[in-house]
Amino acid sequence: MASKKTSKSAAAPAPRVTAGDGGTLRIGLIGYGFMGRAHANAIHQAGHFFRTGRRPVLQAVCGRSEEKVREFAAAWQCPNVETDWRTLVARPDIDAVDICTPNDSHMEIALACVKHRKMILCEKPLALDGTQGAAMVRAVEKSGLPNLVWYNYRFLPAVTLAKNIVASGELGKIFHYRANFLQDWTISADLPQGGAGLWRLDAKVAGSGVTGDLLAHCIDTARWINGDIVSVSAMTETFIKERMHNLTGKKQPVKIDDACAFLARFENGSMAVFESTRYARGHKALYTFEINGEHKSLAWDLHDLNRLSYFDHGVPGDRRGWSSIHCTDGDHPYAGRWWVPGLCLGYEHSFAHGLYEFLRSLDQPKAEKRFPDFRHALGTQHVCDAVLESARTGKTVKVKRA
Ligand SMILES: NC(=O)c1ccc[n+]([C@@H]2O[C@H](COP(=O)([O-])OP(=O)(O)OC[C@H]3O[C@@H](n4cnc5c(N)ncnc54)[C@H](O)[C@@H]3O)[C@@H](O)[C@H]2O)c1
Repeated sequence: MASKKTSKSAAAPAPRVTAGDGGTLRIGLIGYGFMGRAHANAIHQAGHFFRTGRRPVLQAVCGRSEEKVREFAAAWQCPNVETDWRTLVARPDIDAVDICTPNDSHMEIALACVKHRKMILCEKPLALDGTQGAAMVRAVEKSGLPNLVWYNYRFLPAVTLAKNIVASGELGKIFHYRANFLQDWTISADLPQGGAGLWRLDAKVAGSGVTGDLLAHCIDTARWINGDIVSVSAMTETFIKERMHNLTGKKQPVKIDDACAFLARFENGSMAVFESTRYARGHKALYTFEINGEHKSLAWDLHDLNRLSYFDHGVPGDRRGWSSIHCTDGDHPYAGRWWVPGLCLGYEHSFAHGLYEFLRSLDQPKAEKRFPDFRHALGTQHVCDAVLESARTGKTVKVKRA
């Protein structure tokens, strides 16, 4: 997927940021699409709202269209542009590379980052599959370079609160975990596959369909909150078998999973149901999870992301019921860094929180990491691979350990 074009380094019409004095983390961003915008915003926000030893700076951005990348750089006050990611990765004024390109490029870019001794912030899924992911983990761990994978939902205050409540043991024995991620944007048979905006429908570029794109998020959150998944039994479907390919102009078989449902067993003995589809008419991004323990249950819904639903069986019977915790108070994870209690945060803040955790770990490299690194993301990749294998073979599949 690498661009063969000659790189054009040039100063965009934005002020040059002084960096590299040890007090900054100079980030080179590759890709200016959906995640490029989300991360550029997070780089600005994290620097403004969180204090760490190194302030993040958007030092350079790379995209293949010079016109578009300049426009992006001007909008986000980024002083430098590149049109070839290899040149960006080699720049001496970059400390960390932020990979916001489609999935088939993650491994090649990450390995180049290791060669050039750059820290890596990589979008999810880590790679096209576990084989690629394992090669990335080997390289990055051998290098000792700090690394993160952007499983951002972990960093929403209500989701982190759920993690903290489960970690405290309050739920008692956990019996059930269930998660959904539902969308409806690929129902039309006229929708082509491949190319800008539609690479998610092209298995060569995406690796898989909803499994790697959406369920990977649910799996990451589940593993973080409830521990490792040991086995899965899955079913997938591709409802539309052929679509016109934007790059060839021909009708080609669709190789991604349009929908996936799987059962799972966790190491702690609990069982799970996961479902994702892009064919749930009426749903745009309905990510929900629920955890049922012996004493308490928790539930969360992305459409109401500041709230955590909480049921406590210890409350006297006549007062017992689901309560809704609005996670915007100073006591709630991350919330105190922003506004005053009662005022909401949004999707975008999850990325600022993830970056904050990464910066914090640069200050305290020996402290336990509070973000997913390449090895964590490989564990999630192995679950995705096992899900796809189970769907292919019709058998229950044991999940490989990362
Ligand atoms: N964490 C999340 O919630 C989340 C959400 C969406 C996407 N993602 C992940 O982020 C990545 C990007 O997804 P997106 O939705 O931003 O896609 P997108 O299509 O909106 O953007 C991709 C960008 O990569 C650029 N690109 C492609 N090849 C390139 C190359 N060779 N050199 C330089 N730039 C190149 C494209 O021009 C585009 O700007 C994917 O891995 C995806 O799975 C994560």
